[in-house]
Amino acid sequence: MGADLKALPATLPDYALRAQQSLSAEAWAYFDGGAGDESTQQRNVAAWARWGLRPRVLQDLRAGHTRVTLLGREIPIPLIVAPMAYQAWAHADAERGMAMAAASQQCGFVLSQHSTTPLQPVASLIRKEPARGPLWMQLANGADRACLLEVADQAAQAGYEALVLSVDAPVQGSRDRVRRLGAHPPSQLMTPHWRPAAPASTGLCGGTLESALRWDDLSWLQERIRLPLLLKGITHPLDARQAVRLNVAGLVLSNHGGRVLDTQPATAECLPELAEALQGDAALLVDGGIRRGTDVFKALALGAQAVLIGRPCLWGLASHGAMGAAHVLRLLRDEFEMALALCGCRSPADIRREHVRWLGQLDEPS
Ligand SMILES: Cc1cc2nc3c(=O)[nH]c(=O)nc-3n(C[C@H](O)[C@H](O)[C@H](O)COP(=O)(O)O)c2cc1C
Repeated sequence: MGADLKALPATLPDYALRAQQSLSAEAWAYFDGGAGDESTQQRNVAAWARWGLRPRVLQDLRAGHTRVTLLGREIPIPLIVAPMAYQAWAHADAERGMAMAAASQQCGFVLSQHSTTPLQPVASLIRKEPARGPLWMQLANGADRACLLEVADQAAQAGYEALVLSVDAPVQGSRDRVRRLGAHPPSQLMTPHWRPAAPASTGLCGGTLESALRWDDLSWLQERIRLPLLLKGITHPLDARQAVRLNVAGLVLSNHGGRVLDTQPATAECLPELAEALQGDAALLVDGGIRRGTDVFKALALGAQAVLIGRPCLWGLASHGAMGAAHVLRLLRDEFEMALALCGCRSPADIRREHVRWLGQLDEPS
C-alpha cells in the first residue's frame, strides 16, 4: 500500500494531467469539456479564488469534526460525488468504483440516470457502509416519463435516499471540443436506466422539448415518488422561490459544470443571492469548479450545506480507478479539515459569512 500511495499523484491538477494521459482524446474531450467557449467552466473555478478567507485565531478547536446535518440526517462530511454519465468510458471500475471511493471517504454519491451500471448493485455495494454519506439517484429532464417513474421506484426499493432531478439540461449544450473530434461514448456502453422521450415532429431542437418537464409537472412527479426530491441546476432566485413553493427538499445550485449554457456567471458568484432567496426553506447545495478544501469552506460560509464534486472525481477514476477517486476525495477532505482549523472553526457549524470576503474581479478594485 505504501508503494502504491507513493505512485499516486499528489494534487488534483496532477490527477487531471494523468487522466488526460490515460484517456483517448475523444474521452478526454467528453469528460473535461464544456459548452461554447468554456467561459462558464473556467469562471466556475476562478470565482472561488475571488472569495478571500478571513481566519480567526486562537479559537478552541478541541473535539472538532466535519459533520453536518443534511435532509434531517447527520453526515460525516459535506462532500458528495456529483452525478456523472458514462463512467465505464473513464475506467472499468466505473460507477461501482466511484461509489466505493465515496463511501470509503465517508462522502456521498449521486448515481447518474446515464449510469453505465445498474442502480441496484451500486446500492448493495455501499448501503451497509456505516459511515457513508448520502446515496442519491439523479433523474434527467428529457427522459421518457414512464422511465422516470420506473427509475424512481427502483431507486427507492434499492435504498437510495433521495432523487435529484436535473432541470438545467432539457437539451445538451453545444460542446466544441466534442464536436471537433466527433466524440461519442462507445456504442457498446449500455445505460440501463436511460430511455429518452420520443421527439415530436415540431418544435425547438428537433422536437425534443415538447415533452420536457415544466413547473406544472413537478407536482405530478412528487405525487408519484416516495423519496425526497431535490432540483439540480437552479441558478435564478425566482426559480429557487418557485421550487420552495412546491415543497422540494433541496436545491443544487449548478450550471452543470459549464457543460450546457455558456456565459452564465460562476456558481460561486450566484451562491449568496440564492442563499438569501431560499432563507433556509430548503437544503442548499452547490457545485461547479470546487477544486480545493478551501472552496468547500467558502461554499459553506456563503450558505450551502454541502457541495458536489464533479470532474476531479473523474480524473481520479480515469487515471487510477476507484483508488484514484478515493484519493482525490481524501485530498479534498484533508484540505477542508485544514481550512476549518486554520479559519478557527471547530466544526462546519462554526463557519460564518464573516469568514469570507469578496475580493472583486481581478480587473476591478476590491
Ligand atoms: C463528464 C460529465 C458528465 C456529467 N453527467 C451528468 C449527468 O449525467 N447528470 C447531471 O445532472 N449532471 C452531470 N454532470 C454535471 C455534474 O453533475 C456537475 O454538476 C458538474 O460536473 C460540477 O462541476 P465540476 O465538474 O466543475 O466539479 C456531468 C459532468 C461531467 C463532467
